[in-house]
Amino acid sequence: AAAKAPPVPAQKRPKRLKSDVDYVDEGKKKVTLFIGSQTGTAERFAKTFADEANARYKKAVFKVVELDDYAFENHEYEEKLKKETLALFFLATYGDGEPTDNAARFYKWFCEANERNVYLENLQYAVFGLGSTQYQLYNKIGTDVDRILAEQGAKRIIPLGLGNDEQYIEDDFVAWKDLVWPELDKLLCSEEDLAGLSTDYVASIPEYRIVFLERGDAPQMERKPSLANGNAVYDLRNPCRVNVAVRRELHTPLSDRSCTHLEFDISGTSLKYETGDHVGVFSENTSETVEEAAKLLGYPEDTYFSLHAEKEDGTPLSGSSIAPPFPTPCTLREALAKYADVLSSPKKPALLALAAHASEPTEAERLKFLASPAGKDEYNQWVVSSQRTILEVMAEFPSAKLPLGVFFAAVAPRLQARYYSISSSSRAWPSRIHVTCSLVYEPTPTGRIHRGVCSTWMKNSTPQEETQECSQAPIFVRQSNFRLPADTSVPIIMIGPGTGLAPFRGFLQERLALKEAGAELGQAIFFFGCRNRKMDYIYEEELDMFVKAGAVSELIVAFSREGQSKEYVQHKLSQKAAEVWNIISQGGHIYVCGDAKGMARDVHKVIHTIAQEQGSLEGSKVEAYVKSLQMEGRYLRDVW
Ligand code: 2AM
Repeated sequence: AAAKAPPVPAQKRPKRLKSDVDYVDEGKKKVTLFIGSQTGTAERFAKTFADEANARYKKAVFKVVELDDYAFENHEYEEKLKKETLALFFLATYGDGEPTDNAARFYKWFCEANERNVYLENLQYAVFGLGSTQYQLYNKIGTDVDRILAEQGAKRIIPLGLGNDEQYIEDDFVAWKDLVWPELDKLLCSEEDLAGLSTDYVASIPEYRIVFLERGDAPQMERKPSLANGNAVYDLRNPCRVNVAVRRELHTPLSDRSCTHLEFDISGTSLKYETGDHVGVFSENTSETVEEAAKLLGYPEDTYFSLHAEKEDGTPLSGSSIAPPFPTPCTLREALAKYADVLSSPKKPALLALAAHASEPTEAERLKFLASPAGKDEYNQWVVSSQRTILEVMAEFPSAKLPLGVFFAAVAPRLQARYYSISSSSRAWPSRIHVTCSLVYEPTPTGRIHRGVCSTWMKNSTPQEETQECSQAPIFVRQSNFRLPADTSVPIIMIGPGTGLAPFRGFLQERLALKEAGAELGQAIFFFGCRNRKMDYIYEEELDMFVKAGAVSELIVAFSREGQSKEYVQHKLSQKAAEVWNIISQGGHIYVCGDAKGMARDVHKVIHTIAQEQGSLEGSKVEAYVKSLQMEGRYLRDVW
């Protein structure tokens, strides 16, 4: 249940040291690949592109840079962009039309700069946007930046490319690349170069330099937290390691599913949150997964090593596109547990890396075929639809013996943080962050059970309640706009079935604390949904307590698997149409949290119907009215 959320404002992010983005090799043309990436896909695309391009063009250097790192002060954007002559933008749109955390400051500046006129007539560019048609403002950021660049006089070398995460976004990217290469060839190659263009795929496979060590050879790399007013600032790149204080199962033994209530202890840290925020959690693979991966790689788990993105003389290994290594030295066990995503499906460059190290020619050919345009359907079927993991694919090609430096740089992506809507109130629980997480556990077409890395880790974690040797995780808080009305007397409607309940548990704790402090509370209706009272009615006693204590005026529960027919929250919402409309038209707020595709979409439709029937609005007026609620921040969604 990873929630998508708007980004943290730039001023909350720590500044990092000046990187080498200004450095250009003499005599080579600099091409900048700008990224705005949240979950790592845009970053991966840009880096793969840079690797391929650096291998392809001898007279150019392709460098990847995050937009917010490119300029440390806003005014520098203008000076620096004016010096760029060729740039590619890889821009993800997050949630409902938001920029990613690492492009938020740039995006705001760029939209405002458009009114002042920056004039980028020396710049040639192409944009690839990453988004999902699941959200209303599909690919807004890529589309906006592409348009504004053109308005500022920059020259588009190919039309805007749009990747849709609802379908297979890798294919959208390949299609876009096929259009970019011929244009770049024209700009970066002479006739002779074109004839001898490097097509050697092996040259473009990234690889870290690895040094095998005896334990105790070198000290562990220390992460230095950024400081603001003397306090550590924690974010995605600089998370805070905290203890798991409490863990308990929320489903009853009658349920065949599992949902974990977890509390992180943030006392004694400078971590702060507000009710409605999200928490990012870095978890670990299980010891079974680690064992299997080590076996497939052919190294003992206690192999001790360090990884480097530079040669021994300090120069970069492959342009600047190789990701910085995770903190080493460490054991292979630790590296596989904390940093290697081995349960996702391998991307095509990973298959090529395996091919390059397969000693059996038939295996190498098959891997190359799967990664080739001709093997596209086969890849989509055998890898993607079958949900084959990196480990499963490695097991199918036993002759491929991957060096660890290739495995970590080209095959296993970095394990990403998972986001959860915080299920506690900062007023009630200032030193705890609560999470409500359902276990991801489903069979796949190959007969494997797919287990979510983070939800499995949470379910198996050991809380401080039980032992001082408890589980720990690096976490950080991401600010959201999912907030109770500033005026506590404003009425609200909350809709959140299943783990969509999470932020509302926080809201109700907050309202209770406010009430106890003497605040006057407006009406609040909570629509909750679950399958069966005896199985998955999570937090039932607490919810009853909130009703009795007056933190919520009415609790309406839809049980989907108790009666003959399915009852969902949207059905209950329809039945309460008059009251719901009354609250909305009084200036109340509506909040929806949970699954975006099914529930939130259906609830969205019901809200339109209510506005139409109860408010006697017609046609385009309904649409405009609901939009205005969203614009005014009175209809907020925390959906995933
Ligand atoms: P179901 O599993 O019986 O279909 C929390 O997961 C609750 O949300 C469950 O009761 C689940 O019902 C229900 N649910 C599933 N799909 C939904 C949808 N499209 N709209 C609303 N609720 C849904």
